[in-house]
Amino acid sequence: MKPAASSKLHAQSEREQSAPKLMFFGDPHGDLESVVAAVERCRPEAIVLLGDIQARRPLHVELGPILDMTEICLIHGNHDTDADADYDNLWGSELADRNLHGRIVEIAGFKVAGLGGIFRSKIWDPRRPIDEAAFQSSVAMCRTMKREETWRGGVSRRHRSSIFPDEYQQLLRSGLADILVTHEAPAAHPHGWQVIDELAETLGVQLVVHGHHHQNIDYLAEGMQTAAASFRAFGVDMGSHLAWPRDETEPGSPPQDLLEFAAQVFGTEAQAWLGKPHEWLDGQTPAAFAAGGGSEKVRSMLNAIQHGGVV
Ligand SMILES: [Fe+2]
Repeated sequence: MKPAASSKLHAQSEREQSAPKLMFFGDPHGDLESVVAAVERCRPEAIVLLGDIQARRPLHVELGPILDMTEICLIHGNHDTDADADYDNLWGSELADRNLHGRIVEIAGFKVAGLGGIFRSKIWDPRRPIDEAAFQSSVAMCRTMKREETWRGGVSRRHRSSIFPDEYQQLLRSGLADILVTHEAPAAHPHGWQVIDELAETLGVQLVVHGHHHQNIDYLAEGMQTAAASFRAFGVDMGSHLAWPRDETEPGSPPQDLLEFAAQVFGTEAQAWLGKPHEWLDGQTPAAFAAGGGSEKVRSMLNAIQHGGVV
């Protein structure tokens, strides 16, 4: 798999003509200046930080210039518990109550569900049944600890960013949502998890956006998902962002549903096929022909290929 670093999705987000409703920011790892700059440039209604924030000062101080400009939401990542400063600058910040972890919040007209943190096998290996987890909750874990092992009266700082079964199940029972933001990746990622897919499907979301892996990934365009999947999935790299909804009608590009159809037929070879001149199209590429108004002919070619024809 290669990261879709040059995908239209991310290139396009850099030159938004109209304010996006939502922007998702990949793991900042202390660089909140680029978040501030992007918000000042694009003026989204709301933003979501996808974890591993590691603010060097309290988060509301770092994001001070945009506090009145957009609604700020977040989930935490595994590195947000690396040091006391990482923890305190997030959970001790005035924006701590904007953490979406374990709940659904309406943001910019979307119901957004959040699952921060990562799976740690010492708590719950999600490849195993949930009732076989070592601990069902942080409270249950804390009961097994000696007083000197606790941190600020609870589980260790490290496990403040571990996903406990009760947090996952609480979110699972929270009703329907439009979007799920996670730090961990869905199953289609080589380091992803089936339980993220199950959560997305139970919540009925159309979109899953995650951080953690430092890759821009459009799962559909990369051939990691088919158009038949119940939700779209995107990974967002550190220092990058994804605007939502996307402007699917970029001038000079084939219609998005045609791109998705090509990805379904050709998988990772879709872009190569779309960009190769074809004799049936007067020597034009399928991408150019479709963008010029010939998308129905390209669609019929894809149809034929899908059903075993030689085109
Ligand atoms: Fe991470």
